[in-house]
Amino acid sequence: MVTTVGTETTFEKLVQNLLILEHDALAAYQATIDRLENVAAKNQIAAFKADHEAHVAELTRMATTLGVEAPQEGDLKEYLTKGKVVLAGLVGDKTVLKAMSTNEIETKMAYDQASKNQAASAEARAYFAKAYADEDRHKQWMDAAAEG
Ligand SMILES: [Fe+2]
Ligand SMILES: [Fe+2]
Repeated sequence: MVTTVGTETTFEKLVQNLLILEHDALAAYQATIDRLENVAAKNQIAAFKADHEAHVAELTRMATTLGVEAPQEGDLKEYLTKGKVVLAGLVGDKTVLKAMSTNEIETKMAYDQASKNQAASAEARAYFAKAYADEDRHKQWMDAAAEG
């Protein structure tokens, strides 16, 4: 699935759409934590969820600086698995982690695009590149855990 998040023509819209995507991601992370049975996996996903909370905090700071509203929730449109809706129907830790890994394709793509978006400030683009690296790390762990 291809996401258009990250390709916005204004810095304001870019930040707002990233926030919507992050809120969807947070809902999916919570659903994943609720579904997982393995305690070590639960703890690892909770640590990754904290990265997303840091992303939300920084994006919210950017929205405030730009003088625009910071979305407080997702819209489930950009997320391939519709977050908790689909995750709730899955059985087994590996199946759940595989689905979450698919979600990270979206977050990776969005931040990759955002990090190259000239509508954003240089400082923001550097932050988006760091967020991309976080999402890439999350996906790699999930893929390894889903295979293992
Ligand atoms: Fe994130
Ligand atoms: Fe992530």
